Amino acid sequence: MAIPRSFIENLRMSCDIETTISSYVKLKRQGRNQVGLCPFHSEKTPSMVVYGDTQSFYCFGCGAGGDVISFIMRIENLDYVEAVKLLAQRVGMTVPEGEAEDRLSRIKPVILEINRLTARFYHKILRSPEGREGYAYFAGRGLTPQTMVKYGLGYAPPGWSTLRDYLRSQGFSTEQMYDAGVVSRGREGSYYDAFRNRVIFPIIDLRKNVIGFGGRVLDDSKPKYLNTNDTPVFKKSRNLFSMNFAKNHAEKRLILAEGYMDVIAVNQAGFENVVATLGTALTPEQARLMAGYTKEVVIAYDSDGAGRKATDRAVGLLEEVGITAKILALKGAKDPDEYLKKFGAQRFKLLLEDAGSVTAYQLSVIRAKYDLETPEGKSGYLTEAVRYLATLKNPVEREVFAGELAGQTGVLRETVLSNISFEVRKNYRRDKKKEWDNISSSRSLYGDRINPQRAANLKASLAEEGILCFLFKNPDHLGKILAQIGEGDFVTDFNRGLFKQMAAMIQAGGAPALSDFAETLSPEQMGRLSEIVNREMPMSEEVLDDYIRALRDAPLQNISQRAGELSGDALLNVVERLRQKKKEPGTADDR
Ligand code: CTP
Ligand code: MN
Repeated sequence: MAIPRSFIENLRMSCDIETTISSYVKLKRQGRNQVGLCPFHSEKTPSMVVYGDTQSFYCFGCGAGGDVISFIMRIENLDYVEAVKLLAQRVGMTVPEGEAEDRLSRIKPVILEINRLTARFYHKILRSPEGREGYAYFAGRGLTPQTMVKYGLGYAPPGWSTLRDYLRSQGFSTEQMYDAGVVSRGREGSYYDAFRNRVIFPIIDLRKNVIGFGGRVLDDSKPKYLNTNDTPVFKKSRNLFSMNFAKNHAEKRLILAEGYMDVIAVNQAGFENVVATLGTALTPEQARLMAGYTKEVVIAYDSDGAGRKATDRAVGLLEEVGITAKILALKGAKDPDEYLKKFGAQRFKLLLEDAGSVTAYQLSVIRAKYDLETPEGKSGYLTEAVRYLATLKNPVEREVFAGELAGQTGVLRETVLSNISFEVRKNYRRDKKKEWDNISSSRSLYGDRINPQRAANLKASLAEEGILCFLFKNPDHLGKILAQIGEGDFVTDFNRGLFKQMAAMIQAGGAPALSDFAETLSPEQMGRLSEIVNREMPMSEEVLDDYIRALRDAPLQNISQRAGELSGDALLNVVERLRQKKKEPGTADDR
């Protein structure tokens, strides 16, 4: 990785982090920073903060953070050099080539050439007497000879070195074949063909390069499919099978199927706009890849339990990249392949046109579980459907389906609606609590490196943070706060430091901004500060008073244990507080 530092510096300056991140994530301005839903873990309320001033980002939910290059590495699933190259390409800079660079740029064309020859080799065998079994397999599954040619399908014979011998005759070394993933390495260092006695599906990218292979057994043995592992030219999570055909199709929406055979069957039936993931669940990268082509995706997964689960996941990922998902209701068949065989292309076309919204689909799944003729069934359906509708983000959609639900069950629409909003509020509280629990448990689990005194002084810390949050949002209350407590009342050093700085900023005139702390705080500390001031709490004086009282009383509770840790000032403060408290017994902590 011999990229000169000066080049990296230049690149960082040319790639503004806010602009870069906002091409992946919808960002909302919050003071001088921006916030958005973190793309690195699943969440409903934004916890990723992008700091324009320090050109950095940090997620409070999962702890991801760093600069613009770290962001690209994670989101595009690239290594450092690849991320630098991608960014450079976007801003029209050329990366000076180092040695590592040379090796990679030399091996890539070799792998592509090996792949191309391998695909042709297996395809030729499929159409020769030696490939009779493979041909019979595909034909038996209804594929025409034209389709086999179109997809370049192949057959790998049972031998251990058929391909290896062929490639060697073409002048390639076994190491090169191994780099391409078409041969595997045994424990004793011997190399043998990776695919044996399998039908072969070449995976072709948008530039018509063969980048990898899938291979299926001819019977019921395991594993059913083998896929090329990631290589310098192939990343499963970033490619879609058959995208090379789908991208040219006139119809602007894509059909997403589960596997190779579904895609080929659907394509052969005349629907070119179909793709599948490559032996993995849909990834965020694949969702973004689709978003580059279309705003609508029809999910045509298997109708079994696993398919339904995969559907749920895909819907979430697609919606996150702004794609509207529709769901194909495959009735009477387990997957699109079987459906086409049973009912034909015409019926499939109708099914496609009829593809329902995700909500309609989910409601029908729920509905199928109950007998609406009985009162119990009706109420069971209603309860579960209400709970589901409450998870929808769009209130208009909730209302529409509430009406539908009312019609189906004969319950007043208003009743359904009020049940839904009850659930919505419940969910909101639960989500908030969960996020909070996540944050605090991840702290206690790994120890809180940012504020190490926090765990032992949780109550006081919460009070400190409440005060900081309130003060940050209401700087005009500084006077009122200082009349009751001072920095000496802060129990944890980290929070005291924040309070000191914040107070000084306000006294110097002006509202505090997060970025003002950037100079003195580390990125992790910045992260914590931003988390604290972004906490949602009711901004009333009663709440503030509660926090102040809690903090003032905190040292009284474990003074004997902690006296040794307190600074002189703080100790004096506590002693004074104790004396006053004796005079006015009414103010004791009454919780
Ligand atoms: N898959 C895989 N490895 C497996 C099983 C499945 O990589 N052991 C991937 C393949 O890409 C496959 C997809 O998951 O196409 C769907 O799996 P499945 O439904 O089992 O396969 P089908 O495509 O239905 O295969 P077939 O119709 O050939 O049985
Ligand atoms: Mn299947």
